[in-house]
Amino acid sequence: MKNFALIGAAGYIAPRHMKAIKETNNNLIAAMDIFDSVGIIESYFPEASFFKEFERFERHVNKLQHTNDKTDYVSICSPNYLHDSHIRFALRNGTHAISEKPLVLNPWTLDALEQVEKETGKNIYNILQLRVHPSIIALKQKIANGPKDKIYDIDLTYLTSRGNWYYTTWKADVEKSGGLASNIGVHFFDMLYWIFGDVKQNIVHIREEDKIAGYIELENARVRWFLSIDYDMLPDEIKTKGQRTYRSITVDSEEIEFSEGFADLHTMTYQGILTGEGYRVSDARVAIETVFKIRHIDPIGLKGDYHPFCNKAVKKPFSKFSRDLIRKYMEK
Ligand SMILES: NC(=O)c1ccc[n+]([C@@H]2O[C@H](COP(=O)([O-])OP(=O)(O)OC[C@H]3O[C@@H](n4cnc5c(N)ncnc54)[C@H](O)[C@@H]3O)[C@@H](O)[C@H]2O)c1
Repeated sequence: MKNFALIGAAGYIAPRHMKAIKETNNNLIAAMDIFDSVGIIESYFPEASFFKEFERFERHVNKLQHTNDKTDYVSICSPNYLHDSHIRFALRNGTHAISEKPLVLNPWTLDALEQVEKETGKNIYNILQLRVHPSIIALKQKIANGPKDKIYDIDLTYLTSRGNWYYTTWKADVEKSGGLASNIGVHFFDMLYWIFGDVKQNIVHIREEDKIAGYIELENARVRWFLSIDYDMLPDEIKTKGQRTYRSITVDSEEIEFSEGFADLHTMTYQGILTGEGYRVSDARVAIETVFKIRHIDPIGLKGDYHPFCNKAVKKPFSKFSRDLIRKYMEK
């Protein structure tokens, strides 16, 4: 049985890590968050210590490293811009780190983290959960068994509505989350690279706070992609069903079914890490470089081969605070 500590215990994703630690028959001994709404710990590890101050958490973990209760892994569920600092804390205290995506925001931080791996002899693992999704594994196998020089035409559409709350959290702050492509899209860019090979061309058509679209050419695919958190972008049939998310990937116009199968991906990722098959810094690198470029290159507008949803994308003159109030005022 391995001992875990966890940072970011009060957040949305932390319970999936607690469940994964539990389901792989391991133990959470300490957790930390600056916010103390952490009753969820009771459902998984009531014996775990909890800290609101990083320094006290650090002292606790460090002290236990000299006992039989030492921590083997630190799971990192904090906001994206803090991952690298929390990873360094883990490795320098003699534990491995399992970090949420995106591993970091800027590619050069990957080099610095690999240096810390060398210095400490400890490993950094990343949650790249689409790589363990059964439908995505099946697609990878299908492509690997197909003609080696074929270039597939792909349309990727991911619309996952977020309400007003989103715009006042770190997730809407590009300095902290990296923006939509880094925060929400990184899963898909990693998946595309994993299946279709290295990036040859990367173009952004639209980049707004609530929607982003572009074209990416890989060794074996031409991909038009569109990501949005704007409810208004959802197709009417999705809205009438009361749903707020729409995912579609077509490969040569054939829809890839992957609406199910998301529930256990963290547990499957942990199983991989614990059996020596976890994804490391080098695995994360291409997707991090890709979304970094998407964040920084200039959008070219609706030119060339752009995703068809771009035609429906309305630029909103508002986005941050009080969206509804501003909308009503504008409509007067
Ligand atoms: N793999 C996935 O499917 C998936 C889904 C959602 C989020 N995520 C990733 O998980 C991470 C957390 O996202 P979330 O949606 O749970 O966000 P969240 O805002 O719900 O949770 C983040 C938590 O970190 C805490 N925190 C903030 N600053 C901290 C600090 N200095 N020290 C310790 N804790 C701190 C916050 O109080 C909060 O409880 C992000 O990296 C995000 O990209 C992954």
